[in-house]
Amino acid sequence: MLYLWLKAAHLIFVIFWMAGLFMMPRFFVYHQEAAAGSPEAALWVEREAKLKKIILNPSLIVVWLLGLVLAVQIGAFAQGWFHAKLLFVLLLSGYHGWMIGYAKKLARGERKMTGKKLRLINEVPGIAAAIIVILVIVKPF
Ligand code: HEM
Repeated sequence: MLYLWLKAAHLIFVIFWMAGLFMMPRFFVYHQEAAAGSPEAALWVEREAKLKKIILNPSLIVVWLLGLVLAVQIGAFAQGWFHAKLLFVLLLSGYHGWMIGYAKKLARGERKMTGKKLRLINEVPGIAAAIIVILVIVKPF
């Protein structure tokens, strides 16, 4: 019973985390459409910092903690699907880290990527999430 409550909490925070991962690059696109150094650009810096502090970072921590507790409970470390899931979760965590770094660059006025590239990279969390859900539900290996 406790296991199911933990799993429900895991999924709730996965949803929060994914929402943040989808929102941030969108923020970057709008941010870059504002003139550098303008009051609007400053507003986007603030919004990005809030998204990171209130949604992204806390969700990342809770998803990892609960996921690892679940994994220990069911002995997932010995199962193939879990190894593959870990790989994609690490990819998502790396993507999370890249976004935090890019937000810092934007706050300093550096705009390294085009809006088109940012929109393209925004496909990463969706594809990774689809693969992860198939791995945990179907457990193909
Ligand atoms: C961050 C590290 C993560 C770890 C260590 C982890 C680990 C786990 C474990 C061990 C389970 C239990 C599986 C079972 O009861 O058969 C689980 C369930 C689940 N996880 Fe994660 N997870 C993580 C992140 C994620 C992410 C990012 C997603 C989706 C994008 C996700 C989606 C799910 C889903 C859909 C389930 C429910 C599967 C079911 O109904 O049995 N997890 N997770």
